[in-house]
Amino acid sequence: MFEKGKINKGYCSDLNSSQKKLQKFPIGVFDSGVGGLTVLKSLYQRLPNESFLYFGDTKRVPYGTRSQAEIVEFVRQILTWMVQEQVKMAIMACNTSSALALEIVRTEFDLPILGIILPGARAAVQTGKRIGVIATPATVNSESYPQAIQEINPEAKVWQVGCPKFVPLIEQNQIAAPQTLAVVYEYLQPLLDARIDTLVYGCTHYPHLEPVISQILPRSVSQVDPAQHLAAAAARELELLGLSQTQRGQQSTRFCVSGCPNQFAQTSQQWLGELPVVENITLPVPTPSALA
Ligand code: DGL
Repeated sequence: MFEKGKINKGYCSDLNSSQKKLQKFPIGVFDSGVGGLTVLKSLYQRLPNESFLYFGDTKRVPYGTRSQAEIVEFVRQILTWMVQEQVKMAIMACNTSSALALEIVRTEFDLPILGIILPGARAAVQTGKRIGVIATPATVNSESYPQAIQEINPEAKVWQVGCPKFVPLIEQNQIAAPQTLAVVYEYLQPLLDARIDTLVYGCTHYPHLEPVISQILPRSVSQVDPAQHLAAAAARELELLGLSQTQRGQQSTRFCVSGCPNQFAQTSQQWLGELPVVENITLPVPTPSALA
């Protein structure tokens, strides 16, 4: 549906019929679980006329302790499904996928695919010079944040902490549990010792812990949630490609997961403000010929 060469990457005032048709299609947003909801929230604010297809790979969460080969394979399956569902753009609302799979899959699919690392790195360097990044072990090991940050500002110093206990606590809805405060303290301590001036939420799950993190982090440390910056990048890209939904409509989201729909609905209710309708889907296994 996204024919090669049909979309003019420069700004165009004369939209062709293919672009007009695509404008109405949803934007695909995915994560391993409820983390991507922090991105979805920013997308709702930034793109009030758009519709979304949200996918949480809850059967295989967490991604952050998996190998690159596994993550690339999962991302291929998700993108293959999203193309079948006719999304006009795919947004990786997942740092781990963005760090380990984006550069590999970007050329395999004929649709715009946005990741979260670069918008996050850009925002971080605008905020400070002593930057702490909390992320999954896979994202930390990829060195994606230090590389992206130092490419923009070679003077910036970066400290990273892998936080493997965070995602299970969030997916199991344990944010208010006493042990969560202790775990947050354990992970932030090395960054406090390093006297960071900026903390980057390098995993989309972690902003759900913001009330706990703010209890420990000094107010002088700026917190950067890359989600808002990714949403701004998505808005710019849609505009450039002539794919923004111009008609005012009812913003809608279809929620799909690979695991238990009820569990996802119950956990996400607190952030969405209502109990969502959630479908269970089975992802296709892509064949090489299915990839563009
Ligand atoms: N929320 C994702 C991220 O931003 C994945 C976390 C996980 O499943 O480990 O990295």
